[in-house]
Amino acid sequence: MEVQEVFRLYESELKSVENRVKDLFKSIAPPVPLIGRHLIESGGKRLRPLLLLLSADLSGYKGEDRLELASIIESIHTASLLHDDVVDGAEKRRGKLPAHSIWGNQIVILVGDFLYANALRLAVMYKNQKIMETLSTATTRMTEGEILQLSKIGDPDITEEEYLNIISAKTGALISAACRIGAILGSLPEDKENALSYYGMKTGTSFQMADDILDYIAEEGKLGKHLGKDLKEGKITLPMIYLLKVASDKESDEVKKIINDGFNQDDLKRVKELFKKHDVLRLSLQKARNLIADAKAELEVFPDSPAREALFTLADYVLSRSK
Ligand code: IPE
Ligand code: IPE
Ligand code: MG
Ligand code: MG
Repeated sequence: MEVQEVFRLYESELKSVENRVKDLFKSIAPPVPLIGRHLIESGGKRLRPLLLLLSADLSGYKGEDRLELASIIESIHTASLLHDDVVDGAEKRRGKLPAHSIWGNQIVILVGDFLYANALRLAVMYKNQKIMETLSTATTRMTEGEILQLSKIGDPDITEEEYLNIISAKTGALISAACRIGAILGSLPEDKENALSYYGMKTGTSFQMADDILDYIAEEGKLGKHLGKDLKEGKITLPMIYLLKVASDKESDEVKKIINDGFNQDDLKRVKELFKKHDVLRLSLQKARNLIADAKAELEVFPDSPAREALFTLADYVLSRSK
């Protein structure tokens, strides 16, 4: 199954999710719908809602709640992007100006707060303790991951383990929650609920690794973000961690200087040269690939079905973005 086919199969459900996301942006404060719409209408893959819908399908659940919960997940994702772009000083998001460049940091932070709170408020209405726990834990973890990341900015001594902790929290947690909620809706036994959640965590973590590789090598038009921004932000991601492990002392000093003294296009070129010399992008991709294999293995507790096939396809898609 091709990934386009999966998106096509779920097109009408995703449309309905999108309309519900817009409903979540309703507020007496006009900047909320305005800023919310700016982001949602700029595009976005809707990966997290799709994963929730597929997990619900795999779990045999077809009720309306899956659409509402998918919209809650996408709304939390939207809030995280608003905050993330302020924190990172991003200049582009989904191919357009980020919201804070248009409306300013103050209002965008508050709209992000509103979206987080409103999404959790809506989730509370389901009176389902497990769903509330899943969503509030994921939201806490995401923020924790971003804080942890900020505390490691510009630190060339960051370990691979610390990096994995950061990305599993900031990105893996919400994707894992999306998959777990599908299982909860279908009232799956605990082992299967956990399997879906682990599938989401591994796929999500690998997704962030791929994103971090793409930050160096993607086509800018396709990514909708500026390239090389991690280096510019002093964000040490997997390729850089691998490079610093194997580079000569002289090369290491050179790279550390680039990380700490600001950066220009020549610096980016130099770093990419060193990546090539030490083959670290391939190594990073291999790591992401192994994680996807582990993610898929989690789903072995489920019998073969179109929904399971689609989840395999999405796991692979996360990687194919970075080839
Ligand atoms: C962006 O997420 C933030 C990361 C976790 C890398 P997506 O790449 O899913 O963003 P959209 O929703 O498709 O724009
Ligand atoms: C991902 O972090 C953002 C969240 C998970 C909130 P990044 O800062 O690496 O993502 P991009 O590159 O800005 O999309
Ligand atoms: Mg960012
Ligand atoms: Mg960030």
